[in-house]
Amino acid sequence: MNRLLTLDKVTKTFPVRDSLLTVFKDISLELKDGEFLAVTGVSGIGKSTLLHLVGLLDTPSSGKIQLNDTLYISLKPEEASRFRNREIGFVFQFHHLLPEFTVLENVAMPFLIGGGNRDEAKERAGEILGIMGLSDRLGHFPSMLSGGEQQRTAIARALINEPKLLLMDEPTGNLDPRTGHMVMDHLDSLRKKRKYSCIIATHNMKIAARCDRIFPMSGNGENHAGEILR
Ligand SMILES: Nc1ncnc2c1ncn2[C@@H]1O[C@H](COP(=O)(O)OP(=O)(O)OP(=O)(O)O)[C@@H](O)[C@H]1O
Ligand SMILES: [Mg+2]
Repeated sequence: MNRLLTLDKVTKTFPVRDSLLTVFKDISLELKDGEFLAVTGVSGIGKSTLLHLVGLLDTPSSGKIQLNDTLYISLKPEEASRFRNREIGFVFQFHHLLPEFTVLENVAMPFLIGGGNRDEAKERAGEILGIMGLSDRLGHFPSMLSGGEQQRTAIARALINEPKLLLMDEPTGNLDPRTGHMVMDHLDSLRKKRKYSCIIATHNMKIAARCDRIFPMSGNGENHAGEILR
């Protein structure tokens, strides 16, 4: 498998009052094309911060991040947002769906923002929502959906531009275990149709165990990628 993502000695510090808080230091990590990686660790260890850096929502204090041939540091701000729209899907812990738009419209949005045409946006959104088991919810507004359905809609939205990399921050954190596994089943079934890689930040070790590999964040500067589990 080819390498998709490389993190080389990535450090993140935040200025807090008159000192610097080091969230993590010198994280080096590689993700292969098609690989699912779980990022685990206790609350406050830096899982969301790491996803934000990989998702171009924040910048490292030092170190390099590269997706395929693109070195993040080389992107100008407007290039970064275009690159993010095209190459990366982000699913937040809370779904962030737009309440005044339907399920179909929410999912179609990133494709339209990327310059896609309306008919194709609808077609793509319908298809990906079908894979997520939501064909009969296209006209619903987010408030009419269950938590699991909202989360699956958010995942469909993150996938509409066929990103190479899907980043998910506690995607099953608000779901009961059965629904959480159902969401994972949908991601697995999509994986058989379309090649993409995924990084999932989660506290849930059962969800983590469904990934190819676990990256346990330890907080003592000894972060390392774990064993391949299957
Ligand atoms: N903008 C910020 N300014 C200062 N400190 C921050 C900022 N963002 C995050 N932090 C700190 O960085 C640390 C890591 O936060 P992060 O949200 O990445 O943790 P997490 O592993 O995702 O935790 P959780 O499991 O609770 O979601 C925390 O101690 C947090 O307080
Ligand atoms: Mg978090």
